[in-house]
Amino acid sequence: MWADLRDVGRSPATGGYRRFAFTPEDGQLREWFEQEAALRGLDRTVDRAGNLWAWWGDPDSDGPGVVTGSHLDSVPAGGAFDGPLGVVSAFAALDLLHVQGFTPSRPIGVVCFGDEEGARFGVACTGSRLLTGALDPDRARGLTDTDGMSYADAMAWAGRTPHLLAPDPPAMARIGTFVELHVEQGRRLIDVGAAVGVASEIWPHGRYRFSFTGRADHAGTTLMADRADPMLTYAMTALAANKQARSRNARATFGRVSVQPNGTNAIPSQVTAWLDARAENPANLDAMLSEVSRQATERAERDGTALEVAVESWSDLVTFDATLRDRVAAALGGAPVLATAAGHDAGVLSAAGIPTAMIFVRNPTGISHSPDEFAELGDCAAGVRALADILRDLAT
Ligand code: GLV
Ligand code: MN
Ligand code: MN
Repeated sequence: MWADLRDVGRSPATGGYRRFAFTPEDGQLREWFEQEAALRGLDRTVDRAGNLWAWWGDPDSDGPGVVTGSHLDSVPAGGAFDGPLGVVSAFAALDLLHVQGFTPSRPIGVVCFGDEEGARFGVACTGSRLLTGALDPDRARGLTDTDGMSYADAMAWAGRTPHLLAPDPPAMARIGTFVELHVEQGRRLIDVGAAVGVASEIWPHGRYRFSFTGRADHAGTTLMADRADPMLTYAMTALAANKQARSRNARATFGRVSVQPNGTNAIPSQVTAWLDARAENPANLDAMLSEVSRQATERAERDGTALEVAVESWSDLVTFDATLRDRVAAALGGAPVLATAAGHDAGVLSAAGIPTAMIFVRNPTGISHSPDEFAELGDCAAGVRALADILRDLAT
């Protein structure tokens, strides 16, 4: 399975993956999922949000079922493991249960959520959010990518049907429990010397668009005192965000910037920059955003620029079901329990009231959203065994 996926959307120059929603790569990955499901004789369905499902057993007559899986899309220049490890491990865990002669007394499902990273349209986890009703279908259809193409048009381009997008209560009713396996996106499991761990919670996470507007002019002839340069306001805002995050044990990142007109010898008219911000709780996150916005606005006044801040995506604090978390940790022989500041479809399902757990697999680099993301084969196998043990426990 890993070999089949290895080259899809991979840049030979950087080794990074680009697997955005509704692109040819996305289509290839979805086809791969369908083929793996068919090979195993699983029943395949697509929900109204476009997520792919494969079932061992019938969740409509014998459900709700135990579901595992993850996503196959990536950030720009992403790693191989964030998402695909959870989908490949789900199929591999089913294979292991099959070899062990296990017959589930509840249906077991494998899911591939669409557009988890939100890399193309800005909103994270659109597949699971549309499914649960956390994202309004009209808002989703109207989101645009950097070329101005709408989510609806991109879907139609990919041969999908945007007018069908809707929450899907029957698909939700099939999910009794959800367990997502994911590569760890940090160093906790290295530090404690464990191949697998269990999630306790996901930090709240916001994505904000900062639009700084100034006045385009000549880089040579315009006196420094006569400028309204939005790049200066942005630069100071990036520094302020970094300082605020450090002082609050939070995270703040400007990882994407667009400059107009983007000429070396022109003062910019506009800088748009996206802030990804996360903190231990919503109050800390709100306080950090307020302080960064306040400092940015103050700086804009001094620079003669204007600032607008818009929320593009918001994910509340997720505390995973404690009973399930303890059951999973116990089934894994007392695996370490850790919080994460990375977002996941598991968080969206948990917020929708589904008992949900996550298993993390050690990443020896500790790096993620980068080609350096990694997991050793032995740890991946430990993850598959752990997932199979949990599915067996939950589906008995
Ligand atoms: C998704 O991986 C996120 O945390 O942004
Ligand atoms: Mn990710
Ligand atoms: Mn992921």
